[in-house]
Amino acid sequence: MQKPFVAAILAVLALVGGGVFLLLSSRKPETLTSPELTVYFTCDTQGRLEPCGCFTGQLGGLTRARSWLTNNRQSPSLLVDIGGAIAGEQDYHVIQWGYILEAYEKMGYQALNLGAREGMLPLATLREMIGQSEVPLLSASLVDANSREPIAPPHTQIEIDGRTIGLLGVLDPRSVPTPGEGLAILSLDDAISRHLPFLAEECDEVILLAFATESEMDRLANEFYELALIVGGDVKQASQTARQVNQSLIVYTTNQARTVGRVSFNRQDGRIRQASYDIHMLYPKVPQDPELIALSQEFKKFISTTRLDIDNPHRMDENAIPGVATTAEYVGSESCAQCHMEETRIWKNSRHSQAFATLIHRDSQADPTCIGCHTVGFGTPTGYQRAFGDSKLTDVGCESCHGPGSEHVSSWQAGRKPSFQFRPLGPGDCKSCHYGEFSRPFDWDTFWPHIAH
Ligand code: HEC
Ligand code: HEC
Ligand code: HEC
Ligand code: HEC
Repeated sequence: MQKPFVAAILAVLALVGGGVFLLLSSRKPETLTSPELTVYFTCDTQGRLEPCGCFTGQLGGLTRARSWLTNNRQSPSLLVDIGGAIAGEQDYHVIQWGYILEAYEKMGYQALNLGAREGMLPLATLREMIGQSEVPLLSASLVDANSREPIAPPHTQIEIDGRTIGLLGVLDPRSVPTPGEGLAILSLDDAISRHLPFLAEECDEVILLAFATESEMDRLANEFYELALIVGGDVKQASQTARQVNQSLIVYTTNQARTVGRVSFNRQDGRIRQASYDIHMLYPKVPQDPELIALSQEFKKFISTTRLDIDNPHRMDENAIPGVATTAEYVGSESCAQCHMEETRIWKNSRHSQAFATLIHRDSQADPTCIGCHTVGFGTPTGYQRAFGDSKLTDVGCESCHGPGSEHVSSWQAGRKPSFQFRPLGPGDCKSCHYGEFSRPFDWDTFWPHIAH
């Protein structure tokens, strides 16, 4: 009598159980698979608000990055920079960085990490820029050398799709040749372990913005399992794939604002899964954003009326050996013409003699980030100065390559052989200007015949 009853109960239980099981199994993917998160990233912008225009077919510039992002960025998503946005340590580089930070804000960046070149700025300058930037500049690594207190917020949290994403910014001290005055840089492990436990507790996912080498990123992934994504870095080229190392995905890029990286990932059963990854080259066909072109014009206008350290020819030359003064001065290409008529004729017919006119066409004749290679001896005591305007030291002149000629000229004019001889030149001398983004790939055998004299 009891058996059918028990069987019925068991059957009901099995049904309910099956239903519960069905319910569970149908919910399982939802509860254990997190929504996809997409991160766009750049690194090593190196002052490239817009491309310099030194040859046709140049890639990149934030002007192009912005157009590309406007047309392609999915929302919601994150947009971050890993550092190296500034081009150098001069006062005009800092001024330009201010405009770049403004561009990042217009572009909708949510966090900016501080890279190696930023880590070479003096503490006071960095503090001012960190205070000025609308987008948070992060660094868990950079601290005041005296107080050992962070000088920038180490991390930030962003709500996206109802989840909290923690972004932690670090800079490998070994990437920085000499830290700026008043700065100290913590080791990566120290910088990360100070903040990671808190972030891991507070956030659904933690992303590390790491200005560090590829092998360091790998090491960090093995050391700190709480990092969902590591975005770098201090690398030679962009990552070909998003690599899974331990519990993290690793991606990176570089290259003077010529690329934008994009990675999407989620979590399945606790493990990070890459959904998609690509590096977009910002080809010339990508239009340049007019608002950022205007911002770059604003920078050029501002810099043309701002007095800079480089405008003072008597400023300390840090490379000068005390007590040893170079006596030769720049005199200008016209002074060579009287004795070197054939060389002068060839030079006049070459593009080198038009290099300053080129800058004038671009409203860039007072932009110190341009004139170094389009004039004679800029930045040295007797070389071109911005206050000269159009003068005898404009263009890539004879002395841009051969060096200052005053002694040579005065000796020969006095009818005696100079005690000093110009040193022999070769491809290396051309490459002081013909390199990287400033020139088509330099090749002596194809370039020299155009200017041979
Ligand atoms: C590092 C040296 C260097 C700097 C800095 C530099 N240039 Fe140039 N520029 C060159 C060289 C070299 C060429 C010739 C490249 C070639 O023939 O492939 C060139 C060529 C050009 C040309 C093309 C001329 C033509 O008609 O073909 C333009 C325009 C130009 N530069 C503008 C600029 C501007 C604007 C800046 C500043 C944002 C700048 N340059 C900064 C080295 C430099
Ligand atoms: C008053 C005449 C005179 C003037 C001006 C002059 N040179 Fe010369 N230069 C000579 C003579 C003479 C020689 C040796 C013979 C030769 O090679 O033609 C010479 C040789 C050279 C050499 C070969 C290497 C060397 O040191 O002998 C270079 C390079 C050179 N000149 C560059 C210049 C440049 C650059 C200027 C302008 C800044 C200049 N010269 C102005 C007369 C002059
Ligand atoms: C001081 C910087 C500088 C140095 C050094 C320099 N160049 Fe240039 N070069 C330029 C600039 C700037 C231009 C572009 C000028 C313009 O068109 O406005 C240029 C343009 C050229 C072009 C013209 C491209 C064309 O076909 O019209 C050739 C060729 C060239 N350089 C060869 C050389 C060679 C060879 C050397 C070394 C012997 C050399 N350059 C060293 C700055 C430099
Ligand atoms: C773009 C770089 C560049 C410019 C600009 C340039 N030269 Fe030269 N010049 C060279 C190179 C490279 C050589 C060949 C290698 C060498 O002799 O050092 C050379 C060779 C010479 C020589 C022959 C040296 C010898 O020993 O025979 C003279 C003279 C000379 N240049 C004068 C001039 C004068 C004058 C001007 C300006 C009108 C000028 N150069 C502009 C790079 C340049």
